[in-house]
Amino acid sequence: MKIAITGANSSVGLNLLKHIVSATDINVIAGVRSERAMKSLPSSPQVDPRIISYQDPAKLAATLEGADCIVHLAGILIEDKNTSYQSANVDATEAVVKAAQQLNTKHLVFISVVGAGADSANAYFRSKGLAEEIVNKSGLPASIIRTPILLGPNTAGASSIIGAATQSRTKILGGGKYFMRPLDIDDLNQAILNCCDGESTKAALYELVGPEPISYRDLIQKTGSMMNNNVEIGSVPIFLAKLVASISSRIKGGGITPTVIDVITMDEVVADNADGTLNITLTPLQNTLEKILEHKKNK
Ligand SMILES: NC(=O)c1ccc[n+]([C@@H]2O[C@H](COP(=O)([O-])OP(=O)(O)OC[C@H]3O[C@@H](n4cnc5c(N)ncnc54)[C@H](OP(=O)(O)O)[C@@H]3O)[C@@H](O)[C@H]2O)c1
Repeated sequence: MKIAITGANSSVGLNLLKHIVSATDINVIAGVRSERAMKSLPSSPQVDPRIISYQDPAKLAATLEGADCIVHLAGILIEDKNTSYQSANVDATEAVVKAAQQLNTKHLVFISVVGAGADSANAYFRSKGLAEEIVNKSGLPASIIRTPILLGPNTAGASSIIGAATQSRTKILGGGKYFMRPLDIDDLNQAILNCCDGESTKAALYELVGPEPISYRDLIQKTGSMMNNNVEIGSVPIFLAKLVASISSRIKGGGITPTVIDVITMDEVVADNADGTLNITLTPLQNTLEKILEHKKNK
């Protein structure tokens, strides 16, 4: 099988590439936007790094040609001066869908987020919901996988949990009372490859979350205790954090905004976990945390 990955230099992309190279014989077109991003990709005969642009779907199609499955990972939570939800989450998905239609691609996998909705009042969830609609209406055989916070080497979620768990005292948004369903990145990798391998004729939506709901507060304390560190957790009031974020993001032209704070403090809840449908045995949270701590130790 040959797959093409967009946003191959993202944390999900790099973990997926590492898994593909070490455990499969799959060949990959690894699409990134710059020479600098290209340097971060693993060097392997299985990986064919290519510079892609989302401005011209015909050119994009020519670059991704030959792939049995396109895995569209490019996307952002945090906007900055150079990239917006519209360009990164909506327009890039539209370009990939047009390219996939032109190529008559056998399968498209799109990574979305738990909470996505085209009518959402939250701009990030709305952009992911609009992107899902583009995939849904494309007529392509596709899998949309909504994910929660992802834990694996170098994911933003793992870095902030370990960062907080290393302190003796830390202050977190609202005292970290919101509930997460952390998903092991290896489980997502397997789900993506199972989707690429599967037979389908239309778009399907899956919500894939980790095995255990846990409050963010407990997640930090659990990680701390695995490092033999007792973390004292204080609270930053959410309204205050949003006020500061609103001012600083206007000055900086991006970064943490009230929208981002709403996303990270939302309870991650799903009606039906797709682990069974996607044929995934979920990694217990304890094992996932052991893996990210081991990776941190060896870095
Ligand atoms: N990490 C999580 O916990 C999590 C949770 C739910 C969903 N997801 C989704 O999973 C996917 C991968 O997430 P990640 O955390 O691994 O991403 P990441 O490490 O933050 O990387 C973001 C990727 O998006 C690309 N990108 C940024 N702006 C773009 C634009 N305007 N047009 C096209 N590409 C652009 C970046 O390319 P450059 O390097 O060239 O800027 C990079 O490849 C995303 O779609 C994300 O929404 C992630």
